[in-house]
Amino acid sequence: VQPGTRMPALLAHLAPDERRAAALALTHFLLDDERPQPEEATEDDRALGRTLFHSIGCVACHGPLEATVFDATKDEEDGDADWDEDLEPPDADPVAADVAGGSSSAQGVPGPRATAPTEADRSRPNVSLMHVDRKYDAAGLAAFLFEPLRVRPAGRMPDMGLDRAEARALAVYLTSMTRVDDAGAPVSHFRRDERLAARGRELFEALRCAACHELAGTTPPSADVSCNLEAGERGCIAEATAADHRGPVYTLDDRTRAAVCAPAPTAFNAEAEITREMVAFRCDACHVRGERSGVDPALSAYFRTTQPDLGEEARIPPPLTHVGAKLQPDWLRRVMFDGARVRPYMATRMPSFGEENLEGLVDELLRADGEVLPPYEMPVPEGDAAGAARDAGRTLLGTTGLGCVMCHDFNGTPSPGFRGLDLITTPERLQPAWLARFLVAPQTLRPGIVMPESWPGGVAAHQGILGGDTDAQVRAIWYYLTHGRTAHDPPGIRPAPSHLTVDGGVRVYRGRSRIAGFRGFAVGSAEGLHYAFDSELGALTALWRGEFVSVRWDGQGAGDFDPRAQPATLQRDLGVLRLESADSRWPTRAPRTKEAPRDRDPLLTARHGYRFRGYSIGADGVPTFRYSSGEVLIEERSGVVRRADREALRRTFVFDAPVATTLDLRLLGAGATKVSDREVALARVTMVLPEGARLLPREDAVLRVDLPQGRSSTSVEYCLD
Ligand code: HEC
Ligand code: HEC
Ligand code: HEC
Ligand code: HEC
Repeated sequence: VQPGTRMPALLAHLAPDERRAAALALTHFLLDDERPQPEEATEDDRALGRTLFHSIGCVACHGPLEATVFDATKDEEDGDADWDEDLEPPDADPVAADVAGGSSSAQGVPGPRATAPTEADRSRPNVSLMHVDRKYDAAGLAAFLFEPLRVRPAGRMPDMGLDRAEARALAVYLTSMTRVDDAGAPVSHFRRDERLAARGRELFEALRCAACHELAGTTPPSADVSCNLEAGERGCIAEATAADHRGPVYTLDDRTRAAVCAPAPTAFNAEAEITREMVAFRCDACHVRGERSGVDPALSAYFRTTQPDLGEEARIPPPLTHVGAKLQPDWLRRVMFDGARVRPYMATRMPSFGEENLEGLVDELLRADGEVLPPYEMPVPEGDAAGAARDAGRTLLGTTGLGCVMCHDFNGTPSPGFRGLDLITTPERLQPAWLARFLVAPQTLRPGIVMPESWPGGVAAHQGILGGDTDAQVRAIWYYLTHGRTAHDPPGIRPAPSHLTVDGGVRVYRGRSRIAGFRGFAVGSAEGLHYAFDSELGALTALWRGEFVSVRWDGQGAGDFDPRAQPATLQRDLGVLRLESADSRWPTRAPRTKEAPRDRDPLLTARHGYRFRGYSIGADGVPTFRYSSGEVLIEERSGVVRRADREALRRTFVFDAPVATTLDLRLLGAGATKVSDREVALARVTMVLPEGARLLPREDAVLRVDLPQGRSSTSVEYCLD
């Protein structure tokens, strides 16, 4: 019924009829009439359950239930992690959307177990869950998952810190995924038969069930069965038990059987003891320790992070190598027993296994690792030295020092760069000797970490602080961090909005903005006429005069910009496409906001053939934006020109068409009115069209251009009142 179970068969010696009768009697003894009411399950629950199961760590021990491979490199909260590197429009990623709680799980989901990897492939067999639908209904399973240690105090199935809604969603998902057929589903109409229950009680005693199970009203039997494994006796775990064997029958694989029968080690060895516990509790399904490998490469994709730019360290649980020398003993206990966590970006959760079960392991870790690193003092500075050390530590962490806050949050304040581990917890978490070694040579303690060497070879990269003395700098950082929550933020963690100016020539600033979307550009000119370009739309969206922009870091890695004067909006939809007919509706999309950052229809522009292809900045500082519409490549650049009475922005398009074709350019939004044959106005903006231009007869200003094969160009001018 439950493949791989550690519950031995105790009725194996009985003939089939007697066996069935005994099982029935025991059932009436153990179960009572009350059954929890089945809960209404929704498709949303199921989808959430599926996402949780495949992202928070269940997979580490149970394996995936579906062959869906999550792309671990995809950012799960916000598709903009690649903001700076990649200006291509984000591909729709149904899996990432799903993980963020978006779409339903209905499409593309293979049937239960159809393509799941086989257990034989693995060195660490997955714990099968294929029995759960026949054992639990969703409500019962939710209760178990919410507090597994209450029912199973041994801690093999740890507490994953689920809230009730999560437990319920997982239960709904698991009972639906493991459903084999309806015949085996739990019976909801059970009535206890007292006569059978009495017989069950006798069997419970006779078969010594209480040797392994606690049950009120029963007493554990004395251990009077002897079996000398060392003398070669194999007792209950012998491979083929004799026909008259009356004890429990175990199904063990050969490795386990051999391990159980192996002679016990004669001398106590802390490391061997640690290994034993790490394997028993499956810590090694998530953590490396020394030579022992951690996450199964086949399951690696299920370990996810919101900060992919911080590398594997942000995704894979930290190594436990030297952990007894790394963590402060109190912190180690808090992680193991009080749910202390410092890595909110890691999707996988560190489970709780129960204090009684792991007390010994904590002591052994502290003992085994106690002396692996040479001691390192962090003397508390006094007098003037104290203030100097504090200021130096603060400067070193900031952007004018070693830039640590570009990858680390600080005291709850988000980093303007990547949202790595909050450094304020350092003295509480880490032992001085480990930190000192780690800062100077991060790779020796955490191989592969993206953290740069700020004291390469022990020599300070920043010579200007504390005379470039490495130890003085490391100690200053420690001392500064010991100020805890009262420490003043290091420079750069939350810069005040800064005003950008255009000092001669042209200034380009990339960032997100309410006027230019998530991948916008602000382009400022010395003449004081500035514009915004939205690269997700291929649209020149706004124009303003006066001061340029103010910029504010928002902690997501992209600066927000805001024009410093009231901008005039030109239009905020896709800039180019081929309309079906002159009066077709121009496709519009719901704007993205901070509150609802996910684009509800990310493929809209792609469906209409638009693709952003990047930009370059010419020797004169003027940017050229490149994009395509279908087969046609378009380059556009804009610059200020002097007209008789005032300045105007001339916007020039250069087309490259493989065959002659027609395109429609949307130059002003709805409400545009015709002023003269060649002039159209919208609010404060007047647009001047090229000679012979054809505006379609519509509400908005859409210019139809007939392109010959090869290169051609056109330009318009915008004047701002
Ligand atoms: C560290 C490994 C580990 C992790 C992580 C883990 N489990 Fe388990 N789980 C086990 C083991 C081992 C068992 C078998 C229980 C036993 O022997 O007491 C088990 C049993 C179960 C059972 C069956 C209980 C029964 O009564 O038959 C369910 C259901 C289950 N786990 C669900 C989950 C879910 C859902 C998650 C993620 C939220 C999860 N597990 C995470 C190790 C793990
Ligand atoms: C040698 C120890 C041992 C003995 C003896 C034993 N069990 Fe178990 N039993 C287990 C273990 C271990 C599990 C958990 C198995 C798993 O989840 O893989 C278990 C699970 C169970 C469960 C499922 C409980 C739950 O909440 O999921 C029931 C019911 C049960 N045993 C009944 C009995 C009865 C009745 C007897 C006597 C006939 C008995 N057991 C004897 C070890 C034992
Ligand atoms: C399902 C995966 C998983 C399993 C199984 C697991 N852990 Fe963890 N562990 C984590 C994650 C994730 C973290 C990071 C938690 C954080 O800091 O937010 C972590 C952190 C830790 C830390 C803190 C390390 C540090 O440098 O901050 C210790 C110690 C630890 N685990 C010990 C254990 C032990 C011992 C076991 C087995 C009894 C175990 N873990 C099992 C996922 C797991
Ligand atoms: C390029 C990004 C980056 C920079 C810059 C950076 N770090 Fe880190 N740092 C990381 C990553 C990634 C981790 C691992 C996070 C984890 O364990 O989840 C880390 C971990 C740490 C840790 C905790 C180590 C542990 O295992 O618990 C400390 C302390 C730390 N960094 C201090 C600093 C200091 C001080 C600086 C500046 C001198 C700095 N970092 C600069 C990326 C960076």
